[in-house]
Amino acid sequence: MASRLTSMATVLVTGGAGYVGSHTCVALLQAGHEVAVVDSLANSSAGAIDAVAGITGCRPRFDAVDCRDEVALEKIIAEVRPDAVFHFAGLKSVPESVKDPLRYYRHNLESAAVLLSVMNRAGAHRIVFSSSATVYGVPDELPVAETASLRPCNPYGWTKLMVERMITDMVEADPRWSAALLRYFNPVGAHPSGLIGEDPGGVPGNLMPYLLQVAVGRRPALPLYGTDYPTPDGTARRDYIHVMDLADGHLAALGNLESSAGQAMICNLGTGRAVSVLEVIEAMEKVSGHSLPHEVCDRRPGDVPELWADPAQAFRDLGWSANRTLADMCRDAWTWQSSHPWGYRRLPPTIPTTGAGVLP
Ligand code: NAD
Ligand code: WQD
Repeated sequence: MASRLTSMATVLVTGGAGYVGSHTCVALLQAGHEVAVVDSLANSSAGAIDAVAGITGCRPRFDAVDCRDEVALEKIIAEVRPDAVFHFAGLKSVPESVKDPLRYYRHNLESAAVLLSVMNRAGAHRIVFSSSATVYGVPDELPVAETASLRPCNPYGWTKLMVERMITDMVEADPRWSAALLRYFNPVGAHPSGLIGEDPGGVPGNLMPYLLQVAVGRRPALPLYGTDYPTPDGTARRDYIHVMDLADGHLAALGNLESSAGQAMICNLGTGRAVSVLEVIEAMEKVSGHSLPHEVCDRRPGDVPELWADPAQAFRDLGWSANRTLADMCRDAWTWQSSHPWGYRRLPPTIPTTGAGVLP
């Protein structure tokens, strides 16, 4: 008989209104699990929860609560009685973390510490944590395996490593705990329905959302950071992974938690393929049918020339591998952005367009 975690589990999803969280909610609900979301909406919109309900036909319980609110979280966990918790909630901007490190340490560490305390008291001992390939910093070898040296280059990356440590220590202290620490590479794309997707506030810091805003006319051109890297076309290479492949990786991790009591497993979630910035632009031009202007700029400080995953361990331990292509990632991201040029806001803000006809 299938275990409860592979058949029908109740999963509490922190940060479930956010980009990766909302896509993972869809995957969980479509696999027959029950979902309860806790999200402060600090970087997301309740519209994402409506869209998750629209795609799946199931509306998850939703509490607009900050994970650091111990009293509220305690009540929610007592009511939901989760079989597992997926912890996506947190702040994620590298440059913001460099500018205001204390805010990042306080927010991300306190969110995790409060969550783990509440889980411990409630007897909920299974957690999947959103870590990041940023914990590797500049790797000595490529592709990068889980055994590589860990030396984050920014406070955000340190918070990820510290929370990994916090969770590992909980597991070591009490074998009823089990954990999956998932190191994502570069999540992009959207659910193929185009009803949910990435919706950053302000100027996007990441390549794909910036490029999409160029494609819908919200921005005139992509700043292309560096064409003098020691790579085949001179632009930096990354391991872009479709967000639905990432969501499936979480489902695989959930299935593994029941049989891995006393363990904190660490897995890279990437495709194992290196893709350059120019290749992303070209793939997006193809699916959108638009030529996408870009302006060559200096390298962005702190960027590594190349980073891609050795995904073998995820396949070995979770039976998971990514199978969607770069064309799939671009097509699905474009379906989302072209149908939601302003993200979850239906109408553009009432700021006038610039003279060039470019939207703000
Ligand atoms: P996101 O900002 O879209 O989602 C995070 C969600 O958490 C948001 O909805 C936000 O409102 C919520 N949130 C933040 N702090 C909270 C708190 N204290 N309590 C409750 N809710 C809170 O980010 P995302 O891209 O979906 O990333 C999800 C997780 O994956 C993050 O932990 C991020 O660090 C990690 N990650 C993301 C990437 C990426 O490139 N997107 C890569 C590696 C790791
Ligand atoms: C990809 C490539 C840029 C924007 C970041 C975080 C990492 C993880 C994923 C959370 C680089 C280039 C980008 C632009 C560009 N997040 N680029 N013009 O830097 O690999 O990783 O997101 O954990 O921690 O650091 O992703 O999408 O920002 O950049 O040329 O406007 O695109 O220089 O080569 P990155 P990215």
